[in-house]
Amino acid sequence: MRVLGIESSCDETGVAIYDSREGLIADALHSQVETHAVYGGVVPELASRDHIHHLIPLVDEALSQASMTINELDGIAYTAGPGLIGALLAGSCFAKSLAYSLQVPALAIHHLEAHILAARLDFPDLQFPFLALLVSGGHSQLILASDLGQYELLGDTLDDAAGEAFDKTAKLMGIPYPGGARLAALADACSETSYRFPRPMTDRPGLDFSFSGLKTHALTTWNQSLKDDHARSEIALAFQDAVIETLLIKCRRAVEQTSCKQLVVAGGVGANISLRRRLNEWMLKQNGAVFYPPAKYCTDNGAMIAYAGCLRMSAGERDNDLAVHVKPRWPLVERPMQ
Ligand code: KG4
Ligand code: ZN
Repeated sequence: MRVLGIESSCDETGVAIYDSREGLIADALHSQVETHAVYGGVVPELASRDHIHHLIPLVDEALSQASMTINELDGIAYTAGPGLIGALLAGSCFAKSLAYSLQVPALAIHHLEAHILAARLDFPDLQFPFLALLVSGGHSQLILASDLGQYELLGDTLDDAAGEAFDKTAKLMGIPYPGGARLAALADACSETSYRFPRPMTDRPGLDFSFSGLKTHALTTWNQSLKDDHARSEIALAFQDAVIETLLIKCRRAVEQTSCKQLVVAGGVGANISLRRRLNEWMLKQNGAVFYPPAKYCTDNGAMIAYAGCLRMSAGERDNDLAVHVKPRWPLVERPMQ
C-alpha cells in the first residue's frame, strides 16, 4: 500500500509517500520560515496561502522522487489537527479532493500521534508500550503509548509549551525568528553561566509542565543585565539548563510511575542536542532506551503523516464521509475523530 501524506498544520508544507513494504519512498518539504521571519512569528493567513501555493509542486516532486504516477497511490492521509485552522483547511481540502478525484480513501491524521510514531521511521522494531515526551512549539506532553491509538496523557502544558518558551525567550533577547534553535545554539556554545533559573513545578508531585514563569524570569534577568552578547549567551544557557532539567525530572517520574523504560522524544525541541545528551546519560543508567526521530522528522514533515496514515489505513481505517472536518484543538486521547 502506498500512502501520500500531507502536512500543513503550521508553517511547513510537507508531502511524502510511505510504502508499506519499501518504507519511505518520497519526502518533500517547503518551510515558510522566510515568509514569516519579517513579522517575527507565524502569520496564519500567510501560512494558509503559502500552503496552497506549494501543495501541487510538492506532490509532483514526491511522485518524481518515488518514480511513480499519481494513479498508483492507494490512499491519502492528511493532518486534520491540531494546528492553525486556515493552514489545516488548505491541506485537508486539497487531500480530500485529490482522494475523491483518484477514487482512493482519505484519512484524517492527528498531528501529535504522527510526531510520536515518527521515531519508528528510523526504529521500525520499536514496540509498544513506550513513553513519549512530546515537546514542540505548541505542546509539552508526556504520553504513555500502549498501542496504536491507545494513548494516555500523563502530563501536559499548563501555559507556554517548551518550544514556545524557547522562541519567546529568544525574541525578548533580540534573537530573530525562529529563535528557539538559535537560542539553543548560543547556549551550547557557552561553557558557563553565572545565572541559575528555577526548575518550574518540580517541587510538587505530578507530571504537568509550566514554562511561562521561566520566560518572565529570563526577561527580568535580561533587563537587569548589560544586554550584550555575553549576557545573552549566559541567559540562554541558564534558560536551556532549566528547561532540560525540568523535562528530565518529569521523564524520570514518568518512568517510575509506569515502569516503562522506552522513551520516544518527539517534536521540534527533541532536536535539542543537550536535551538528547542528558536523556541518554540518564536512560543508560536505567538500562532503558531513548528513541529520537532523525532531526528532520522532529520538526513538522510529511513523512510522519504518510507513515501514520499507512499504519492506520493498513488496519482498514478511512474517512467515512466527504466532508472536511478539521480540529484546530484536538486532544490526542480523543482519537478517532469521526
Ligand atoms: O514540532 P515543531 O516543528 O512544530 C510544532 O510546534 O508543531 O516544533 C517547533 C518548535 C519551535 O518552538 C522551536 O523553537 C523548537 O521546536 N526547536 C527547538 C530546537 N529546534 C527547534 N527548541 C530547542 N532546541 C532546539 N534545538
Ligand atoms: Zn509539530
